[in-house]
This record gives sequence, structure tokens and C-alpha cells, in this order.
Amino acid sequence: MTYVVNQACIKCKFTDCVEVCPVDCFYEGENMLVIHPDECIDCGVCEPECPIEAIQPDTDPGAEDFLELNRKYSSIWPNITIKKDPPSDAELYQGKQDKLKNYFSEKPGEGD
Ligand code: SF4
Ligand code: F3S
Repeated sequence: MTYVVNQACIKCKFTDCVEVCPVDCFYEGENMLVIHPDECIDCGVCEPECPIEAIQPDTDPGAEDFLELNRKYSSIWPNITIKKDPPSDAELYQGKQDKLKNYFSEKPGEGD
């Protein structure tokens, strides 16, 4: 198994998660992060760090939909290990539905 970032992260990107990962397996897109499924050691420490519950085990119902997205983009986007400020409008997007369809960006983030 692995942990995955789900669509709640899109346009929120609080990045609290990256600071606690012991194997630095978060990767940054323009408006969300993903976890590299083959690098994640399933320690689970990132899950409670996310203030909006955007991280979950891939064994959760529905989470498998995000596994391929995490796999695909973690091989393309740059690594991120240091927390940065969230987007200024992050709070506007908390709890919004259908973020994947409406807001997902394939563009890479800056990483660190
Ligand atoms: Fe990193 Fe552990 Fe979270 Fe996997 S579960 S992404 S290893 S902090
Ligand atoms: Fe995203 Fe939550 Fe991390 S919003 S960047 S998964 S702390």
C-alpha cells in the first residue's frame, strides 16, 4: 500500500505534509502535491498533518482513483521538502467539490 494525496489538496496546498515525511517523497504541481507510491514507506505521519484531510491510505474507499494520478505526476513534478506559504486564496477552495475536474493543473510547481 501507499498513502496518496487526494483532490482536496488542489488549490489549497498547505504543505504541512512535506516537513514530516522521513523519505521526502512529496512532489509539487502548480496547485497540488502528490506522493510517489514507490517511495512512500507507509509510515502514516503525514496524514494527520494535513489540515484538510487531503492525505489518505490508498486502501480507503475511493482513494484508489488517486493512486494513478499520484504515480504519474510524482515522476514528472519536482520534489518538495520544505513548507511554503499556501496560495493566498487557499481558504476559498477548502471543501469545494469536483476539484479534479474543475481546477487540476498538469503544470509542475517550483519544488525546492
Ligand atoms: Fe511520507 Fe510516511 Fe506520508 Fe508516505 S506515509 S508520504 S513515507 S510521511
Ligand atoms: Fe496538500 Fe494537505 Fe499537504 S493541502 S500540500 S496534502 S498539507
